[in-house]
Amino acid sequence: MADPEQYNPTKFGISTLPLNHEPYGPILPERLAGANKGKLAVVTGAGRGIGRAIAIALANSGANLALLDLLAEELEETKVACEKYPGIRAEVFKCDITNVETVRETFAAINQTLGDVDILVNNAGIAVGKLSWDETFEGFWKAIEVNFKGTMLCIFEVLRGMKERKSGCIINMASRAATVDMAGGLSYNSSKAAVARATHSLQEEFEQAGLGEQLHTYCLHPGGVWGAMVTGKSRPLSALEDPTAYESSRPENTTPEVQDQIRHIFKDVPELCANTVTYLATGRAKALRGCYWDCRQDIERVCSFGKETLDKYDLYKLGVKFLPGYQNEP
Ligand SMILES: NC(=O)c1ccc[n+]([C@@H]2O[C@H](COP(=O)([O-])OP(=O)(O)OC[C@H]3O[C@@H](n4cnc5c(N)ncnc54)[C@H](O)[C@@H]3O)[C@@H](O)[C@H]2O)c1
Repeated sequence: MADPEQYNPTKFGISTLPLNHEPYGPILPERLAGANKGKLAVVTGAGRGIGRAIAIALANSGANLALLDLLAEELEETKVACEKYPGIRAEVFKCDITNVETVRETFAAINQTLGDVDILVNNAGIAVGKLSWDETFEGFWKAIEVNFKGTMLCIFEVLRGMKERKSGCIINMASRAATVDMAGGLSYNSSKAAVARATHSLQEEFEQAGLGEQLHTYCLHPGGVWGAMVTGKSRPLSALEDPTAYESSRPENTTPEVQDQIRHIFKDVPELCANTVTYLATGRAKALRGCYWDCRQDIERVCSFGKETLDKYDLYKLGVKFLPGYQNEP
C-alpha cells in the first residue's frame, strides 16, 4: 500500500487564500440559470457522481444534453433530473468511451437527434491505485484507456465540426493527480497528466489558427469529491471488454483503512465542479483557456489577472522548473 503520508496536505503547501468547497459568487446556480441557453452539451460519465452534477448544472444553464455512460439505469435518473428544468431535452447514450466504433456511432446519433455539439465535457474516468509492482500491465493500461484514450476519442469526434463552425468549448476532467507524483498513482496520474498536456496543446493549435477566442478548452481538478470512485462501492466496469484486470486491482485501493486515511481530503461537493464547468462553458473565463484549473480557487479573481499575465508566468500549466540560468530553450 502507498505511504499515507502522501495525503498530508502540509507536504504540498497550504493555500493562504481561502479555497471554495461549494458553489460561490459567480458560479452560484442562480447566477448561471439560462447562461448556456439553446446550446448542446455532451457529458461523459453522466450516470453518477460529478458527471451527473455537471449534467444537472448545465441543464440549469439552459443547455440540452447528450448523456453518456456505461450505466444505463443511472443515466435515466440523470435524464429525469435534467428534464426537470423547463424546455430542456436530455437524451441518454449507453457508450463505452474506450471503444472507437461505439464512440463514433454515438456521436453520429447525437448529431442526428440533437444537432451540433457546442460543449463537450469529458468527465468519465476511473482510478487504479496499486503500487506498480503489484499491478498488471492490463490493469495499469485500463486507466490510460478510459481517462486519456476515451477523452481524446470524444474530442476527435467534435473537433472538426467546432473548427468549421468556429465555435466550441471542450472541458476535460483531469485531477490534481496530473500535477504531483504519488505512489500507487502510476496509471491514474500519468493518464491525467496526459489529459492536461493535451488540453494545453490543443488550445495552442486554436490560438495559432487565430481561433483562440472561439474555441476554448480547459482541464480541471474538481476538488476532492467523496463517492463511488473513491469507495469503490459501485463498479460499473464489468461492462468493459476485459474487466478482469481492472476488477482484480480494485480491492486494495478501497479498504476501509485506506478510506479512513484519505476521507479528510475529500471536502468538496460535486456541484462545485459542476457549476465551474457551466461557468467555463459560457465563455466568461477565457483568460484561463488552455489551462489546468483547480475548481476550489476563485475563478473571477484569477481571471482578473488576464491571459497575458497568466501566460507570461506560465501559471496554471504543467511545466518543468530548472535551476536559475537555464531556460527551456527550443
Ligand atoms: N472524486 C474525486 O475526488 C475526483 C478527484 C479528481 C478527479 N476526479 C475525476 O472526476 C471524474 C468523475 O469522478 P467521480 O468521482 O464522479 O467518479 P465516478 O466513478 O463516481 O463516476 C465516473 C463515471 O464514469 C463512468 N465511466 C467509467 N468508465 C467509463 C467508460 N469506459 N465509458 C463511459 N463511462 C465510463 C462511470 O460509469 C461513472 O458513472 C473522473 O474523471 C475522475 O478521475 C475525481
